[in-house]
Amino acid sequence: MSNSTKTPIGVFDSGYGGLTILRQFLASMPEYDFIYLGDNARAPYGTRSFEVVYEFTWQAVRRLFEMGCPLVILACNTASAKALRSIQQINLPHTAPENRVLGVIRPTVEAIGEVTRNGHVGILGTEGTIRSGSYVIEIGKLFPSISLQSEFCPMWVPLVENREFDQPGADYFVRKDLDRLLQKDPLIDTIILGCTHYPLLINKISQYVPEHVRLLEQGEYVSRSLADYLHRHPEMDKRCSKGGTCSFFTTESEEKFSDSASVFLHEEIHVQHITLE
Ligand code: DGL
Repeated sequence: MSNSTKTPIGVFDSGYGGLTILRQFLASMPEYDFIYLGDNARAPYGTRSFEVVYEFTWQAVRRLFEMGCPLVILACNTASAKALRSIQQINLPHTAPENRVLGVIRPTVEAIGEVTRNGHVGILGTEGTIRSGSYVIEIGKLFPSISLQSEFCPMWVPLVENREFDQPGADYFVRKDLDRLLQKDPLIDTIILGCTHYPLLINKISQYVPEHVRLLEQGEYVSRSLADYLHRHPEMDKRCSKGGTCSFFTTESEEKFSDSASVFLHEEIHVQHITLE
């Protein structure tokens, strides 16, 4: 398939976090074309209002549609919590009725039943995701007997966006927020990393959770859910081109993005700057 007819799957995040989802897509569905868009210039989204997160997310989705993506994954919990429903119910029917936008919360919630053994679950996320109550609502629908405690971690995304994720200063914040969560329910046996940036702190996180606690990283489950979606929707699968390519776009500096993204993805990447409006 030539470049001009490429119709990649779009993957969007406020910054680098969505790379933890993308790397799983690239590993398990390498035949597809992908475009990654990070709105690094305006990250973090986690403390922004519903209106602003929705506006920024819709701008990004529209741009990915313009680039030819028939399907966009919001690889961001904050955007999934605050913008997905409005985009699906209000924007798509008018603007792009054949296109689809999917989030990361539903696939994560569906996985919880198979991960927790005692039904005591904790979730960590951005302030926006936690305050939206999205996980509480979705888990309540699928697994009403699960006891869920949550905590938001205001410094974790800035630590990643500023490449401080492996520095000694990160330990203080990671430990503090994990301790707070575990104090709320010492029986917690599963912690959902409900922000796609958090797996980039996994080395620090693993140091401060008891050994029996499982850390649920979303990439595997979101990737499984996307493959299943494409299997159930052959009409969409046919529209997604399969050339095995991946292009990267950022709203911040190209150099900065490629430096960090290459570390997170363990390979050199080429990135282009764009503006969103
Ligand atoms: N990676 C994002 C999430 O999953 C967004 C974090 C942020 O921009 O605050 O929520």
